[in-house]
Amino acid sequence: MSFVPILFSALASSIFVHAVAVPAPQPPIKDAFQSITRTPAILPRGFQVGDLLFFENNAILRRDNDSSAHELVANYSSGVVDNPVKRVIKRADLVFPADVDLSQDADELEDYGIAKCGEKFIFVESSNIGQGGFASVSRGIDKDGKIYALKMLKDRSARDEEFRIMQLVGSHPTIVEVYEKCRFGVYYTILMELVNGEDVDKKVAVKLYQNEAVAKLAFAGILDAVDYVHSKGVAHLDIKGANVMIGAQDGVKLIDFGMATQNSQMDKIDVAGGIRSPEAESGNKANTKLNDVWEIGTLFVNMLIGSKPWSDANAANAKKIWDDRTKAQRVKSCMFEFQKYKFSEDFCGILADIFAQEGDRKALSVIKPMILNPSLKIFDDCDDSKNKKQTGAKREVKNGEMVVTSVEDLGDEWVVRAML
Ligand SMILES: Nc1ncnc2c1ncn2[C@@H]1O[C@H](COP(=O)(O)OP(=O)(O)OP(=O)(O)O)[C@@H](O)[C@H]1O
Ligand SMILES: [Mg+2]
Repeated sequence: MSFVPILFSALASSIFVHAVAVPAPQPPIKDAFQSITRTPAILPRGFQVGDLLFFENNAILRRDNDSSAHELVANYSSGVVDNPVKRVIKRADLVFPADVDLSQDADELEDYGIAKCGEKFIFVESSNIGQGGFASVSRGIDKDGKIYALKMLKDRSARDEEFRIMQLVGSHPTIVEVYEKCRFGVYYTILMELVNGEDVDKKVAVKLYQNEAVAKLAFAGILDAVDYVHSKGVAHLDIKGANVMIGAQDGVKLIDFGMATQNSQMDKIDVAGGIRSPEAESGNKANTKLNDVWEIGTLFVNMLIGSKPWSDANAANAKKIWDDRTKAQRVKSCMFEFQKYKFSEDFCGILADIFAQEGDRKALSVIKPMILNPSLKIFDDCDDSKNKKQTGAKREVKNGEMVVTSVEDLGDEWVVRAML
């Protein structure tokens, strides 16, 4: 029995979504294979994650692990066959294929799932580890076993600009490190450090930052990162939970410089509503670094209350705070707005300097020490002796340092050093 119909219908359902009744045109063999390797979830019958597959005489064959024996997986009745080999892999199997001739040109290497990035050869994992509005991100491995992240964009100039800005910002412990740019098939790619961890949005979802000490620790990393970016003459413009990653070993890492700019003023800041400043939201000229300060405020509130504080920056809630003329009025509005969460007056004092009209908004260099001030208490009802706030977090002194222990939902090996 031929496997073609099975293979084809599985592929067709994912590639040609509207071709249900009419027999869909057969995809060129390379495209078909691209979908197999990129979307293991739709692997047709006969294929398994981990298979090393290749085409020969219009058939898809599978090679046994340690022999040259071939097993027929599927027949292909048409298509140009140029013997591409693809490895269908799962995370645990991320191993550079030793059997590929690396002197081939980049397009041929792509058939083997290998990207040539500068002098590096990177075997790219078939599944994504992240998906944004503009790009997907996959893991890759080099011949020495070092693992990377590859951000794949369709737009070459967007990729070039993001890479340029990342290089300009350079290396910093709280910023994802960039290595090379390259092309992988149809994608313009940025090769960068793989951040082990999760983005902040995922941790917000488990209310991690309702623990004051954990929140402060994360804030410190975020403030460090953005402050450093500003010191390089760059504004990030897209500071939000999905663009900040936190991991047990890596700590905080700011990612996604897709919107970042060297301009200090912009006529239009084209990021999603709900995070950008009201002046940007209303389409007015905006100071880019002060826009970042507003976004940091929004992110911090989001982390503390466990949900987005306002769905778009014109929402009455946001306006209530920043429309108030005097700082005292803004502090009052903040206390009222976040009453349910018991934000302290001191913390609202800082938010009043952030959620202010552009002319009254303080620069990050002023905000940062206020938030890092060890005596700042974010929540009024934080029980200092246990640092308890809605989660079951406890902290204790170990070797003279305050350490947060047993934080609910904190994740596996997290030991968080809280600031005193
Ligand atoms: N270096 C990395 N290491 C690990 N995961 C990453 C890395 N870079 C990105 N990711 C993951 O991929 C997701 C998408 O990446 P990124 O934010 O750069 O894409 P984007 O399309 O520009 O996003 P946006 O929709 O915010 O514009 C991130 O939210 C994150 O979960
Ligand atoms: Mg992003």
